[in-house]
Amino acid sequence: MSNTQILILDFGSQYTQLLARRVRNLNVYAEVIPFDKTKADLEKYINLKAIILSGGPNSVYLSEAYTIDKELFNLNVPILGVCYGMQLITEMFGGKVELADSQEFGKASLFLDDTSSLLFKNISDGTQVWMSHADHLTQLPQGFKQIAHSDSSVAAIENSEKQIYGIQFHAEVTHSEQGTQMLENFLFDISKCQKDWEMSEFISSKIETIKKTVGDEQVILGLSGGVDSSVAAALISKAIGKQLTCILVDTGLLRKDEAKKVMDLYNKEFDMNIKLVDVSQDFYNVLEGLTDPEDKRKAIGKKFIEVFTEQAREMKGAKFLAQGTIYPDVIESSSNGHVSKTIKSHHNVGGLPDDLKFELLEPLRDLFKDEVRAVGRELGIPDLMIDRHPFPGPGLGVRVIGEVTKDKCDILREADDIFISNLIEANLYNEVSQAFVTLLPVKTVGVMGDNRTYDYVVALRSVNTIDFMTATSTHLPWEFLDKVVNEIINRVDGVNRVVYDITSKPPGTIEWE
Ligand code: XMP
Repeated sequence: MSNTQILILDFGSQYTQLLARRVRNLNVYAEVIPFDKTKADLEKYINLKAIILSGGPNSVYLSEAYTIDKELFNLNVPILGVCYGMQLITEMFGGKVELADSQEFGKASLFLDDTSSLLFKNISDGTQVWMSHADHLTQLPQGFKQIAHSDSSVAAIENSEKQIYGIQFHAEVTHSEQGTQMLENFLFDISKCQKDWEMSEFISSKIETIKKTVGDEQVILGLSGGVDSSVAAALISKAIGKQLTCILVDTGLLRKDEAKKVMDLYNKEFDMNIKLVDVSQDFYNVLEGLTDPEDKRKAIGKKFIEVFTEQAREMKGAKFLAQGTIYPDVIESSSNGHVSKTIKSHHNVGGLPDDLKFELLEPLRDLFKDEVRAVGRELGIPDLMIDRHPFPGPGLGVRVIGEVTKDKCDILREADDIFISNLIEANLYNEVSQAFVTLLPVKTVGVMGDNRTYDYVVALRSVNTIDFMTATSTHLPWEFLDKVVNEIINRVDGVNRVVYDITSKPPGTIEWE
C-alpha cells in the first residue's frame, strides 16, 4: 500500500499482528509480510520509514533458523528487532545467543542502562515489561551497546549510528506498561513517521476490494449474532447490497433465545437478506460421542459448511462464503502461513474441508477485536450489538466440556443466562470483556434440603482484555458471585456446584476448549 510506513517481518510470533495493530493505532499504517523478502521487494514500498522484525518460536542459532536478507540493513531505514528479532540482529552482527538456564516468561522489571536512548524517552527505570523467551543474548553484537537489562537478561540493545534497535521483551502486549510509549518513540522520534492513517480509510479501501472481488456473484455469510460476523455483514452489505444473503444457523449451540434475539435485531436495524435455518438436531447428531476439543471444532466446522453448501445450492450458486474471521482466529489456528504454532483450530479457519466449494471472503482477517468494534461503530452498527461480548463460532460446543448433548446445552444455557443477566443488572457487563459459563463433565455430591444430590459442576469465567491475546480474570465482587451461585443452584436443575475460574491467559485460554 502506498501509505505503508512500517513493514513488520513475521517470524511467527503469536504477537506479530498485535505489533501491527499497535502501530496502526498510533495512526501509522503497518503491514505484516513474510520474513524472507528481499531488499528489492521492500523498495517497492515508497513510503517505508522503518522495519520491525517480529518475535518467533525458533532459535536463531539453529542451522534451519529463519533469517533475513542482509541487504535489508542497507535500506537506510531504522530497524527494531523484537525478541527473536533482537536475537537475529545479534547473530547477524557477530554477537551470541544461547539457550538460557531457565526461560524468562511473564512480567519483568526493565532497568535502563542508557536513559539518553531515544527509544526510552519518557520511560521510567524499572517499568514492567512482558518477557517470553528461552534463549538469551550472551555476547553483544558488534557496534551495539546494551541499553537495558532485566534481572536475568540483556533486555535492549542499540546501534544509534545505524539506527538499529533490539528489545528482548514484547512492547506490543498490554502487560508491558510503557510499551506503547516505546513504540511511539521508535515510530516518531527515531523513524520520523507521520500520523496519516484512519479507520475510515480501511473501510473505504475494503469496500472497493470487496466490490472488485465479488463482481456480480452472490455471497452468503454465516451470521452468529456476535460482533465479528455482524461487522463483516454490515461491511459487505455496504459494498454489494442484496448480493449478500446472511444465514443464521441455529446449531443448538447458541445461547438462550439467541436465534430469536438476533433475528429481531437484524430485521429492525438492517435492510439485508437474512434467513434462519434450524438444524440443531443435526449438530447434536454429529457431536455424539466426540470428546476431543479439536475433533468437536472440526465436526462443527464441517457441519457448518454442509449447511452453507445446501443453502447456497438453494440460492442457485453462491460463489463466495463470507466469514467474520478476525486476526486472533487466524494466528491461533496458524493458518497465516507456516511459522506460528497451532493453539486452537478456530472453526471458521481450521475446520474447512479441502474440497471447499466456496471462495472465502474474510474482510476482517487482519483486524483485532477492538479494531473490528471501531469499524462497526464507524459503519453505524448500534452499540447494543457492538458491545456484546464475543461468542465463539463453535458456540456451546466448546463450552460443554467433553461430549455435547442437548440436555447439557439446555442446562448450560440456563446457567449462562443467569450469570449474564446478573452482570447486566449490576452494571458490570460493559466492565468486563467476556463472561460466560462452562459446563464441566464432572458430577459431584451436594446436599439440597435434606437430600443428597449428584449433579454437574459449572464454571463461571469472566475476563478483562484489550485484544483477547492476553487476558486476566475479572475481580468480581464476592457478594455478586455469591448471588449468581445461589441463583444457578436454586434455578438450574442438574447443577449443584459452581466454581469461578481465575486463570489468566496465558497460561490458560479464555475458553476452556
Ligand atoms: P481463546 O479461548 O482462544 O479465545 O483464548 C480467544 C477469543 O476467541 C474466541 N474463540 C473463538 N471465536 N471461533 C471463533 O470465532 C472459535 O473457534 C473460537 N474459539 C475461541 C473466544 O470466545 C475469545 O473471545
